[in-house]
Amino acid sequence: MLVLGLSGAYSFVHCPAATDTNAKRESGRRAQLTNIAAGKAVSDIIRTTLGPRAMLKMILDASGSLTLTNDGNAILREVDVSHPAAKSIIELSRTQDEEVGDGTTTVAVMAGELLSVAEPFLKANMHPTVVVRAYFAALDEAVQHAEKIAVALNADDTEKMEAIVASCIGTKYMHRHSDMLVRIALSAVKTVRDEVDGRIVIDTKTYVKVEKLPGGELEDSRVLDGVMLAKDVTAANMRRRIEKPRVLLVDCPLEYRKAESATNVELTKDSDFRALLAAEEDYVTRIVGDLLAHKPDLLITEKGVSDLALHLLAKANVSVIRRVRKTDNNRVARAVGATIVSRTSEIVDADVGTGAGLFEVTKIGDDYFTFITGCDNPRACTVLLRGGSKDVLNEVERNLQDALCVARNILLHPKMVPGGGAIEMAVAAHLTAKSKTLTDVSAAPYRAVASALEVVPRTLAENCGAKVIRVLTALRAKHAGGGGEDAVFWGIDGRSGVVVDMRTLGVWEPLIVKTQTMKTAVEAAAMLLRIDDIVSGLSKPKGSGDGVGGGGFEED
Ligand SMILES: Nc1ncnc2c1ncn2[C@@H]1O[C@H](COP(=O)(O)OP(=O)(O)OP(=O)(O)O)[C@@H](O)[C@H]1O
Ligand SMILES: [Mg+2]
Repeated sequence: MLVLGLSGAYSFVHCPAATDTNAKRESGRRAQLTNIAAGKAVSDIIRTTLGPRAMLKMILDASGSLTLTNDGNAILREVDVSHPAAKSIIELSRTQDEEVGDGTTTVAVMAGELLSVAEPFLKANMHPTVVVRAYFAALDEAVQHAEKIAVALNADDTEKMEAIVASCIGTKYMHRHSDMLVRIALSAVKTVRDEVDGRIVIDTKTYVKVEKLPGGELEDSRVLDGVMLAKDVTAANMRRRIEKPRVLLVDCPLEYRKAESATNVELTKDSDFRALLAAEEDYVTRIVGDLLAHKPDLLITEKGVSDLALHLLAKANVSVIRRVRKTDNNRVARAVGATIVSRTSEIVDADVGTGAGLFEVTKIGDDYFTFITGCDNPRACTVLLRGGSKDVLNEVERNLQDALCVARNILLHPKMVPGGGAIEMAVAAHLTAKSKTLTDVSAAPYRAVASALEVVPRTLAENCGAKVIRVLTALRAKHAGGGGEDAVFWGIDGRSGVVVDMRTLGVWEPLIVKTQTMKTAVEAAAMLLRIDDIVSGLSKPKGSGDGVGGGGFEED
């Protein structure tokens, strides 16, 4: 496991009032400076994973499983840190992942840099609230300026859409297959796009299921026009291929319901037992009768199916799949246009799904998989990922999730900004110019935000081995007015490390990702700078006092 050791960077003040806990306390300037050190340490960990020439990290987690990735969030999730400030930076990248899905590396790197540029001000006795206020003022200006630069995008312009998703995947390990992943991401997102009360809703988390099947080639991966379940039909003699099936979905058990709490049945005669069995049989026969009245070809249930029910259904030529997960059943319902029913007596004909073209169970490797495909209007889908090994597939899945998020963001908020550090440089140049109009003490921290934003192009240049100072100076010159109207599009080609116009390179990013990155990073840095006291009062487990100061704390 990657362990971040910060113990050398700060010292704790021991709080003698504590009894058997080793409560620790730091306050004032020292607390702020150790927070800054912690933030910088976290951002140093993942700095090398930014951009198209990113390095991967190999992480062995607590349970012993291995992760190979360059996804900021996936790395930080596994890092074991003890400092509270480092923890909160890690939390940031998780927030970013949940909010917009991409930019999780950038946000941690930027937050670390924002903390680091604050250090001189604190050392010069500037009050943290002054710094924080300037940071927020700069943030407002930065967000407004980014919105001004943003270029509107037509969601039907497939070429541009592909370019954006491609530049998101371009920084990933899988970029060699980016054409395929871009196609998959866009078509999956378009499949689940829905309109509710005139609002576009794209719920990729619920309705796009990524299934990884080791084996085969990565090129065999595809989006199904329907869904796949890792299930086989329940009895061997049932049909495994049905064209245009009538699909019935239920979430109730097709077996005799066992009584919930302790129930006593006293049987005195042989015939009582027979009566009991007959009651069960009647019940099952009745509910199966309800089902068969609607002539389904395929029955999917989330619960169990008794032997008798199976027999009756098989006799009526119905294929049955049982114990399907609720989430899977929901996707099937959307894909085939069915409604999941809970009471067999309440089924109406409209509940039966008829939208699917083909139901087929196929064997891949050693397992059987159910495919329900060829759907007319599948508003849910399964993405089938094939590939050599589990580790590779896991990384492909993470990359695809980023791509899905970007595709979704751009459909919901069709505005884009130039990538490759161009937008950060443009905003930085704007903030620097603006800071000249400020006459009070906040001008310096305001300008510091501008220099912190430059961390993105600087890191991109560093990671591809360019001459950082020369490239950055050239870039600054372009943005400082040397580039005219088009200055905002100048950024760094993350592969060759030269200064280029992002419109020719075609690296674009959704506006929402960038504004969210800046907001999250500034807010986190500001919050950490405001802290002037760190008290950690973890109690030590008894008997674990081994050396490292443990024994000392226990003395009365
Ligand atoms: N070909 C390229 N040339 C230059 N910069 C690029 C290129 N492709 C992407 N970038 C830039 O790389 C940055 C994104 O890098 P990366 O995807 O590694 O990190 P992230 O998006 O912050 O985090 P993650 O993807 O891990 O959640 C963006 O600033 C983007 O503009
Ligand atoms: Mg990214």
